[in-house]
Amino acid sequence: MKIISVVGARPQFIKLSSLSKELRKKHKEIILHTGQHYDDELSRVFFSELSIPKPDYNLGIGSFEHGQQTGRMLEAIEEVLLFEKPDMVMVYGDTNSTLAGALAAAKQNIPVAHVEAGLRSFKKSMPEEINRVLTDHLSSLLFCPTPTSVKNLKKEGITKGVYLVGDVMYDSLRENLDVALKKSKITSRLNLQKKEFYLITVHRAENTDTKKNLEKITRIVNSLDRKIVFPIHPRTRKRLSEFRLLERLLSKKDIILIDPVSYLDMLILEKNARCVLTDSGGVQKEAYFLKTPCLTLRDETEWVETLEDGYNKLVGKEKEKVIEAISSLDETKLVRNILQKPQKKESTEAKADVKISQIILEFEEEKC
Ligand code: UD1
Ligand code: UDP
Repeated sequence: MKIISVVGARPQFIKLSSLSKELRKKHKEIILHTGQHYDDELSRVFFSELSIPKPDYNLGIGSFEHGQQTGRMLEAIEEVLLFEKPDMVMVYGDTNSTLAGALAAAKQNIPVAHVEAGLRSFKKSMPEEINRVLTDHLSSLLFCPTPTSVKNLKKEGITKGVYLVGDVMYDSLRENLDVALKKSKITSRLNLQKKEFYLITVHRAENTDTKKNLEKITRIVNSLDRKIVFPIHPRTRKRLSEFRLLERLLSKKDIILIDPVSYLDMLILEKNARCVLTDSGGVQKEAYFLKTPCLTLRDETEWVETLEDGYNKLVGKEKEKVIEAISSLDETKLVRNILQKPQKKESTEAKADVKISQIILEFEEEKC
């Protein structure tokens, strides 16, 4: 199969990293980078650190309002599809690059495969929810990471082409954790002691785009009782400056405000943090895989399985909920072995990326 992988934003490079290696064993893969993320620390660093092949196309779209950004991508992706005539287009997650890739392909009658299909927040005000729902309804192959995501699709009448394959981000973590443990110098560089700091990331429009909500986030940060590491997404940095909230954070003792870090450094920060506070989907999951407690700065999550054993808690934007959750952090859980359960599973189950590559092969054979 000739497959075009459409990516454009940070988490998509991580989802692509292990899958791309697997796809290339059986198929011809072309990587198309929309250019939605373009700063080195949101894009280039992942390609070099994770040895992802250089994109065959970089559309250089950049930042615009949703309609303009998605529309520009749609037009430019279509041009590549008309030229390359691929057998399939793979899209990842729920960004504007995901929707543009799926729509461009579907309109050209090219089968779409969606990695991380079926996730729902049931909140239409989230741009990601619109992207996910539409992409799933355009896809021929839907690769679901969790049982809940399969059920969500069934409720929307989607049952054909649905496969529960597991999580490609877990594959990437498994492949890179040992490397990160050997290579990353982030804890010594930032002078961090294990389990003695909080790690926070924030970038959702809901949390960053109004002064009221971003102020609530800064109140949470200012209430934390240990060192804080805060790698700031450019969207959030821009808003913090605009709303004059950056000064408030800078006045806090023991806060380390840094640019976004590389994936290997991020894994080490997540593994060693006393607790992670985040509104990121990927960071919630990685904290869960690494058995680090996580407080999710949202009222809902697409990754409901992470809530089951109490490692992940939804705290919204309320400082009081955060303080309460932190005071009840179970110290014994903090020293549990990382990846204990998943490692046992590994011997009997193929990884998500292997399953996806095989299913695509079978899809091709059925067509012939
Ligand atoms: C996007 C995705 C979100 C995903 C996130 C991962 C959509 C609608 N949102 O959000 O689902 O969780 O990526 O990080 O697709 N900017 C820079 N440099 C860059 C990229 C962006 O400075 O390289 C700034 C620009 O001011 C831009 C803003 O960040 O306007 C937002 O970027 P955008 O890609 O639109 O959305 P994200 O918040 O990154
Ligand atoms: N990440 C990273 N550096 C950072 C913050 C996040 O490498 O400074 C990684 C993180 O480990 C995870 C992914 O980016 O693999 C999550 O992406 P993001 O939070 O941007 O988006 P989401 O998952 O919410 O869509």
